[in-house]
Amino acid sequence: MITMKNIIVEGNELLRKKCELVKIPMSNEDKKTMEEMIDYIFNSIDDEIAKEYNLRPAVGIAAPQIGVLKKMLVIYSFDESGKEHFYPMVNPRLVSYSDELTYLDSGEGCLSVERDAKGYIHRSKRVTVETYLYNEGKLQKVTLRLRGYIAIIFQHEYDHLNGILFVDHINKENPFYIPDNSTPVKFKQNEE
Ligand code: NI
Repeated sequence: MITMKNIIVEGNELLRKKCELVKIPMSNEDKKTMEEMIDYIFNSIDDEIAKEYNLRPAVGIAAPQIGVLKKMLVIYSFDESGKEHFYPMVNPRLVSYSDELTYLDSGEGCLSVERDAKGYIHRSKRVTVETYLYNEGKLQKVTLRLRGYIAIIFQHEYDHLNGILFVDHINKENPFYIPDNSTPVKFKQNEE
């Protein structure tokens, strides 16, 4: 089971390396890495388990964060309208992205960044991704069109595969700069 002690943080040079493609069919070791990442996400959002093991909640994780330099990442979250998205990706490839940008008002966070880094990160509002999706040891090749919040999460995790951290994108002179072509993600209010 992955806990915070398995997650490497800013300063560790492994986070700055480029990842290699995963060999298909996947080795048992790569499958195990994928399963561990999936488990981390679900454990981290289970109040009891998260409290017991002191896990930081996550909507995404990438293999380099546990020191594995291979192109694997997991996303689990809900989009602006409350729809669930679960993407355990192997060898994802960003094939196109919009010029139109979007960002989170609250900024981004990362399991591998412990300091409080304030500022906006502007990312493409829409992306198209070709990837294998992992499901219990099996792979399925798909093309995904992601937008808004889920597109942001994807680009954050995809950056990890290329040695990039979200803090790298914050404008140093003007951290809260908003370009003309960027609008914030707006979550639908839950009126319950
Ligand atoms: Ni991250």
